[in-house]
Amino acid sequence: MKLSLARIFCVRTMGVMMLLLLGCELTGKALGCKEGERLGQLNVKAAFNFPNGTALPTWRADKEDCCQWERINCSNIRNTMQVTKLQLSGLPQPRSLDAGALFPSGLCELASLETLSISGNELAGSIPRCLFNMTTLHTLDLSYNHFGGAIPPSLFSSLKLLESLSLSGNAFEGSFSHGFVPSFLMEQHDLEVFELFNCRLEGQLPSWLLENNTNLGYFNLMGSSFSGHFSLNSSLTNYNMWLIDVASNSLEGELPSYFSYVFPNLGDLNVSRNSMQGRIPSSLCHSPTASNLRMLDLSTNRFIGELPEKLMRCEILGILILANNNLRGQVLPRVANLSLLTYLSLSDNQFYGEISTGLLNSPSLSFLDMSSNNLSGVIPDWIGDLQELSVLSLADNSIEGTLPLSFCKLQKLEFLNLAGNDIGPSIPSCVNVSALKHLHLERMNLKGSLPQFLQAASSIVTLSLSSNALSGGIPSWIGSLSTLRVLLLAGNSFEGLMPQELCQLHNISIMDLSHNHLSGRIPSYFNKLAFGSSQVPDGTFTISGYGFTWAVVFSFPYVSTPQEGGDAVEVLFTSKHRLESYGGRVLPVMSGLDLSCNNLSGSIPLQLGNLSDIRSLNLSYNHLSGSIPVTISNLDQIECLDLSHNNLSGEIPQRLIELYRLSTFSVAYNNLSGRTPEPKYQFATFFRESYEGNSFLCGWQLGNCRSSGGLPLTPPPAEHQEDIFRTAFRWSFAGSYAMAFIGTVFTLCLSSYFWTLFFDFVYRHIPSSCAFIDRLFPMH
Ligand SMILES: *[C@@H]1O[C@H](CO)[C@@H](O)[C@H](O)[C@H]1NC(C)=O
Ligand SMILES: *[C@@H]1O[C@H](CO)[C@@H](O)[C@H](O)[C@H]1NC(C)=O
Ligand SMILES: *[C@@H]1O[C@H](CO)[C@@H](O)[C@H](O)[C@H]1NC(C)=O
Ligand SMILES: *[C@@H]1O[C@H](CO)[C@@H](O)[C@H](O)[C@H]1NC(C)=O
Ligand SMILES: *[C@@H]1O[C@H](CO)[C@@H](O)[C@H](O)[C@H]1NC(C)=O
Ligand SMILES: *[C@@H]1O[C@H](CO)[C@@H](O)[C@H](O)[C@H]1NC(C)=O
Ligand SMILES: *[C@@H]1O[C@H](CO)[C@@H](O)[C@H](O)[C@H]1NC(C)=O
Ligand SMILES: *[C@@H]1O[C@H](CO)[C@@H](O)[C@H](O)[C@H]1NC(C)=O
Ligand SMILES: *[C@@H]1O[C@H](CO)[C@@H](O)[C@H](O)[C@H]1NC(C)=O
Ligand SMILES: *[C@@H]1O[C@H](CO)[C@@H](O)[C@H](O)[C@H]1NC(C)=O
Ligand SMILES: *[C@@H]1O[C@H](CO)[C@@H](O)[C@H](O)[C@H]1NC(C)=O
Ligand SMILES: *[C@@H]1O[C@H](CO)[C@@H](O)[C@H](O)[C@H]1NC(C)=O
Repeated sequence: MKLSLARIFCVRTMGVMMLLLLGCELTGKALGCKEGERLGQLNVKAAFNFPNGTALPTWRADKEDCCQWERINCSNIRNTMQVTKLQLSGLPQPRSLDAGALFPSGLCELASLETLSISGNELAGSIPRCLFNMTTLHTLDLSYNHFGGAIPPSLFSSLKLLESLSLSGNAFEGSFSHGFVPSFLMEQHDLEVFELFNCRLEGQLPSWLLENNTNLGYFNLMGSSFSGHFSLNSSLTNYNMWLIDVASNSLEGELPSYFSYVFPNLGDLNVSRNSMQGRIPSSLCHSPTASNLRMLDLSTNRFIGELPEKLMRCEILGILILANNNLRGQVLPRVANLSLLTYLSLSDNQFYGEISTGLLNSPSLSFLDMSSNNLSGVIPDWIGDLQELSVLSLADNSIEGTLPLSFCKLQKLEFLNLAGNDIGPSIPSCVNVSALKHLHLERMNLKGSLPQFLQAASSIVTLSLSSNALSGGIPSWIGSLSTLRVLLLAGNSFEGLMPQELCQLHNISIMDLSHNHLSGRIPSYFNKLAFGSSQVPDGTFTISGYGFTWAVVFSFPYVSTPQEGGDAVEVLFTSKHRLESYGGRVLPVMSGLDLSCNNLSGSIPLQLGNLSDIRSLNLSYNHLSGSIPVTISNLDQIECLDLSHNNLSGEIPQRLIELYRLSTFSVAYNNLSGRTPEPKYQFATFFRESYEGNSFLCGWQLGNCRSSGGLPLTPPPAEHQEDIFRTAFRWSFAGSYAMAFIGTVFTLCLSSYFWTLFFDFVYRHIPSSCAFIDRLFPMH
């Protein structure tokens, strides 16, 4: 086996302490602690207290017996009380503290330490060598400090009793920085808890750790870059092992079939997000009644085959996540008897056939996701017997028929997604929506008016009925859904005026009414709606499960799976001429209004300028007239503004150039006149396509100003233009920087310059955005 070293070496362990502590109370009082140790401790306190802090108040020079001080435990070793345990984690530390001040005449005095924990103390400098003389240590936690410098890996090799070691969250260099498992671990054979967490370590999975440490109970190598096979010596048996987490690595090959014979008491196995192949070994549950397997997550791999029957009868299995593989067969074989199952995710596989009665043996099921498979038949009548169901997604299958009336027995539904099935033309009005927060019924051939029973959905946050054949007016009761934040009704046949009551949806942040037949004016009351200005409380778009939150991804088939297991609801909204998926940390900060492709007339209300937090506004393909209100230049956060294909006239307000975040802009195909805005900031990145189709408009982008009688306008000289681009880029970079926390998708969105070029390209190749959108939202 190759010797290996670690980059940010972070073995994080939470070991069981095996201290033989003889109470100081009984034997220690007379003896007291060793004077050298006591003075050392006082030096430690002084270091923490510099210049005049209040740390460790019971460590007082006038209190002789340091075994009585807080955060210390002593043991009687060779008839002397000695400090064996020191727990100094997380002391309030206003500044970075030099480890040199803490160790040489302080901690180094404690020669018999068995447990040393000084995590999260802003300690900097290199690890003092005396630490490696503390050969009695079995628990060492130096994590989340600023230790740096090179550590010869051999140093730790003297610590042969380690059961628990944590060095994560530091900045070691040199021999620890090569991305390999440090070789001294080869010397360890007593580890009970072993965690190398998000460490970017490379190389073969160190399965020898499992073989060397036969007491190991907790093995967590999640989130590194380990590759290779999960090989195990089949003659090994470890009765202590209860958790193995190797998720998010690059493992391949098959799961050994003897896995559960090697670890007969395994409770949690997480292998998700690797490249594992082959069938799911049926022996994972070696004995349905004796197995301890409670949680199995094999999602996002390349497993094939059917669900093993033995596993399907695993008595105490509670969480089963097999999403995103190539599994096939019946969704839970009929013989399945998973009576404690609460969480089942089988989405994105190739399961077929009808929804099996095998599910009926799991009465506590509360999370059921079978989306994106090839299920057929109808939703069975017995679904109403799964009384605990709170999350149900059957999206994108070939399920037909109507919802059975028994569906109305489900009282805990918080999340329902039936999109992309042929379940229609209506939903029974008895469905109990009192707990409902997210409802997705897109592309289901729903007909008739907006279902009125939704009026009772008093907690609803996301309502999507896009791409159906709903008709009639948007009812005024919609105003009673005051908790609504996302309303997607695009691609239906709604007609008439937008009701006044829409203005009661104060907290709305995304509203898409595009591709309908709405007429009349754009109501001025839209300025009463939040569109981003109302804070989104934590958890609004999150569905929580069992100590972990789970992504429920619902998307149209033409959008690739938006993100790997985020942890939030996702919605789709067209922005920048593209249908984008918003989820995770992005969704709560996205805001937009899309009224495009309707029959709206009249002028753009000045009040729209009050939506200072909106990020996307699309009013294209209507019959709007009048001029572009100058108040539009108050939309400080706007990134996408599309007013094209209307009858707007007058000049383009020059102040629009103050929209520093704008990356998509179009006023094409109107009756605008005058000059295009100065090519400054973001406006240096908008070309002909943003302006064409306005016969009286002139500008360098259009190259037509000579004929308009004014001074010939030429594009700025190349050098100047580059300057502008740089300015634009700097602006968007400033934006990106400020918003970095928002997350990748959004950051990309804000790196406007590059995106602008990209969208410009897209735009060039898609002559009409409506035609493009039409392909996405087929009209009925
Ligand atoms: C520490 O004590 C000095 C005087 O002894 C005082 O000037 C200073 O403000 C104190 N600092 C804090 C943080 O209390
Ligand atoms: C260690 O000492 C602390 C007080 O400093 C005490 O609360 C704790 O019970 C002791 N632990 C053991 C195992 O003796
Ligand atoms: C470690 O112990 C060895 C011998 O036991 C001694 O020579 C050496 O000085 C010690 N190192 C430190 C840093 O205390
Ligand atoms: C641990 O495993 C490695 C690799 O198989 C081996 O070289 C080493 O001797 C083992 N250590 C112990 C203590 O068994
Ligand atoms: C597996 O372990 C057994 C005994 O623990 C040993 O005899 C055998 O050589 C090991 N096999 C491999 C391939 O390491
Ligand atoms: C398995 O690991 C992945 C990646 O760390 C994580 O997202 C997922 O929540 C874990 N599964 C369970 C059931 O905890
Ligand atoms: C399912 O398993 C339970 C025990 O977990 C048992 O009592 C019950 O009889 C089994 N049902 C079937 C249909 O096998
Ligand atoms: C889906 O199932 C049907 C039969 O129910 C089958 O004809 C079809 O090939 C399946 N499609 C896929 C992609 O597996
Ligand atoms: C709907 O479910 C709630 C519990 O979530 C319950 O209190 C209410 O009575 C149910 N309504 C109907 C009409 O069954
Ligand atoms: C709107 O959101 C705020 C928090 O951002 C919340 O306090 C308020 O209750 C919400 N209003 C409604 C009607 O849900
Ligand atoms: C569009 O709206 C006008 C009134 O604003 C109305 O006369 C016309 O019939 C509408 N067209 C369609 C197709 O609905
Ligand atoms: C809307 O903006 C105008 C200025 O454009 C301002 O005078 C008015 O107070 C704003 N109204 C609200 C409700 O913020």
